[in-house]
Amino acid sequence: MNRSITIILLCAALPLVGCDSTRAPSFQLSEQSEGLSSFAREKVQGELNAGFGSPADLVVWSELEVDFGQYSGNVKKVSTKAGMLRIGEQSDDDETATDDKEPVYDGLAAVSGLASARRLSELQGAAVVISRAQPKSAAEAESDDGEESAAVTQTPQVYRVASYDVAKQELHVVDADGDPAQMDVSAGDSVQILGSALQHGRNLYLRHCMHCHGVSGDGAGPTAQYFKVKPRDYRHGIIKFTSTKASVLKPSNKDIFRIIKLGVPGTYMPSFMLLPDDEVKLITEYVRWLAMRGEMERKLNAWLVTSYSQEAVDEADSASELQADFDTEWSEDAGDNIERFGNDLKLDWQDADKPESVVNPTVPRTPSSSESIVRGRKIFLSKEAKCASCHGETARGNGPSTEAFNDLPGKPPGTKSDKPGLFDNWGNIVKPRNLTTGVFRGGRRPIDIYRRIHSGIKGTPMQAFGTTLKEEQIWDVVNYVLSIPFEEKQGGH
Ligand code: HEC
Ligand code: HEC
Repeated sequence: MNRSITIILLCAALPLVGCDSTRAPSFQLSEQSEGLSSFAREKVQGELNAGFGSPADLVVWSELEVDFGQYSGNVKKVSTKAGMLRIGEQSDDDETATDDKEPVYDGLAAVSGLASARRLSELQGAAVVISRAQPKSAAEAESDDGEESAAVTQTPQVYRVASYDVAKQELHVVDADGDPAQMDVSAGDSVQILGSALQHGRNLYLRHCMHCHGVSGDGAGPTAQYFKVKPRDYRHGIIKFTSTKASVLKPSNKDIFRIIKLGVPGTYMPSFMLLPDDEVKLITEYVRWLAMRGEMERKLNAWLVTSYSQEAVDEADSASELQADFDTEWSEDAGDNIERFGNDLKLDWQDADKPESVVNPTVPRTPSSSESIVRGRKIFLSKEAKCASCHGETARGNGPSTEAFNDLPGKPPGTKSDKPGLFDNWGNIVKPRNLTTGVFRGGRRPIDIYRRIHSGIKGTPMQAFGTTLKEEQIWDVVNYVLSIPFEEKQGGH
């Protein structure tokens, strides 16, 4: 499998997560994986560990469509003492800062605007990669049999951040055994700290989101049980309120960013307006990454569940024969399949961030007028739009579909629920919105309502109307929907 550049970020130093593995939160397997035979489950777990690690030992799998983040800089000066990098701009001129006993690596600057001393101090365990940028001196080259003059091709050295001294701006680096790293460096070599965004994102997520959305992003954090509207389980890779077209499976980066900033009105999902934008960006990446981890697990499951579930083992004439079949299939197909799954994920998430994936009407909004509202209401009640079948003629969210047995979304067509009502992809009952309240979870701007109608609400039975209705018609419906709360008040007089 193609995981050539996977780097494990070890042991996060956090109030919540320590090296103490008994307290460290871990990623849970989904209920689906629990249904696999033990031998198949073990492989799924192994793959997830290899590609994603655990909250305390994150893995940077560079094939994924995630900005893992990195700091990079160049070595300015070298001295004999190992295990230390000095970060900062002043050391060249500032005599006091240039202690001859310590190596000085200068200009370690943030690539994505993330460099701050506070943040570096959160990077315990991050990978430090040192690559030769310059040819060795003639004498050194000689002793290497004159083989390589330009040593760019040398394997990079990989170490870990042990700690960061904010006052001294010193980064303490250790080798695989945890001893101060004996770094072989020359001035000009490049230094990279990899996976910084993922680690920061993890820290912020555990602080702000985990108690509702869960460590694994399964929507089952400790406080989730108290809510009627459940926190989103990211592992399906589906977000309900997106700006993207119905054919685009994923939300854009901006969509997730906006949800975090604004929250989901009318639910317990709070607004994180007060968090700085760069922190919200880091959390966004982490949420995307958790979603991809969940999707990878689902894809592995979908492949294995029919033939290698626990049920299949129980029913098999010979369990050991089944396991032998599994071993063969796994050794023949796992590499290709996992590469394909990863590639599909990459394309899907990339797709969502293309400008053409966003729903942007080409016709400007029809100004709201009683004519437009009347036209909108007509469409709302019409057979082609069927809004009223779910939302009801009075738009209170009590249409006939709420009492019928409906097809389950995300399942093969014709798969009905065993209870009446509308369900979402996560198996939760969803009530069509009561549109008289004027509370819109996906935002109340006219363009938000337009996008809801054009693309539907992903993962729910509310389908897309972008092909059934013309743009002008959608604007009429938007005008109608936005007028409903006022119509209601007038009606009460
Ligand atoms: C108090 C509980 C709570 C906290 C804390 C919380 N959420 Fe949520 N979140 C929810 C609930 C409930 C929903 C589901 C809303 C719905 O289905 O309409 C949700 C939904 C979401 C969604 C999906 C929205 C969609 O369109 O499908 C995202 C993304 C999300 N939350 C991210 C976060 C992130 C990131 C954090 C931390 C910065 C966070 N949440 C903190 C409860 C919470
Ligand atoms: C098959 C049932 C169904 C049909 C048909 C349907 N909806 Fe919905 N609608 C829902 C459900 C369910 C929700 C709530 C989804 C959720 O939040 O999980 C919803 C939510 C909404 C919302 C709230 C969006 C928000 O941001 O909170 C609006 C507005 C809306 N629908 C308008 C319409 C309009 C207009 C039509 C017709 C063009 C329509 N719906 C057709 C089921 C339906």
